[in-house]
Amino acid sequence: MTVNLQSPLINHADNLTDKEFRLFRELIYEHTGISLSEHKRALVYSRLGKRLRYHGLKTYLDYYNYILNKDSSGTELVEMINAITTNKTSFFREDFHFKFLSETLFPALKENAQSHHTRTINIWSAGCSTGEEAYTIAMALSEAFPDNFGWNVKILATDIDTNVLKKASEGIYPIENAAQIPKTLLLKYFHKGRGGNNGFFRAADKLRDIITFQQMNLLDSQWPHKHKFDIIFCRNVIIYFDKITQHDLISRFQGHMELDGYLMLGHSESLHGLDTSLINLGKNIYQINRNA
Ligand SMILES: C[S@@+](CC[C@H](N)C(=O)[O-])C[C@H]1O[C@@H](n2cnc3c(N)ncnc32)[C@H](O)[C@@H]1O
Repeated sequence: MTVNLQSPLINHADNLTDKEFRLFRELIYEHTGISLSEHKRALVYSRLGKRLRYHGLKTYLDYYNYILNKDSSGTELVEMINAITTNKTSFFREDFHFKFLSETLFPALKENAQSHHTRTINIWSAGCSTGEEAYTIAMALSEAFPDNFGWNVKILATDIDTNVLKKASEGIYPIENAAQIPKTLLLKYFHKGRGGNNGFFRAADKLRDIITFQQMNLLDSQWPHKHKFDIIFCRNVIIYFDKITQHDLISRFQGHMELDGYLMLGHSESLHGLDTSLINLGKNIYQINRNA
């Protein structure tokens, strides 16, 4: 059977024209920093196609114009961004970073506490997605500082995507994901769902109490934080950005890090070719080079 691509029976939504793809790439880049290459065309087509159908629109251009001209509340722009972000994450993802916290960094902080004027640890999970990274950090903190022992430990977890943040703050996950968490920690820090929550498990309050989830675009000109961070996790986020955006973001992170603070990047992310004063300690753990 031959298919006539010009057939009026074919819905216009089956086409994402070059012009429409370009317009959405520019809009997405402007609002999120996410830089979509030509081979992300199928991703834009399928993820935004759902939004287009939701509004009963015929073409991607109609959807683009809807966002620009008929979305005075900005709600659809948020939905479009939610649809386009990639949120893959898991508990203990790239677990060497959590080993570094538990085996090297937290013991060192405790040892230095005598001479330190503060007993505060501020950690930022930037691009936290559905929260597994922040809860994993919270477990490492709780294990190292049981009942806090006079330490003030806080995690800020932020993401641009409002849908994933909602899931993150609920802290409820399908039971299959429990396999990512060591058994002893699972029993200590999570509750098995019952009744309507059968098949799910939930983070306990002792983890939730030290995390603040907040919607935030890393591209925002002002970040709301008043204090600096001892550790910034920004893993598997900058991989979606181009070099200019990566460079600006990394410079801003440096300004928000304590002098002996750390920046953790994802395993396939690199600062290669960026002008920074951060040094790689291995495994994508970075620290400000004080001798630079
Ligand atoms: C692949 S997930 C990484 C999750 C977690 N950090 C990890 O490594 O498992 C990337 C996250 O970055 C977020 N993101 C993308 N652009 C962003 C921006 N401009 N500001 C804040 N978050 C952003 C996405 O919404 C997504 O949830």
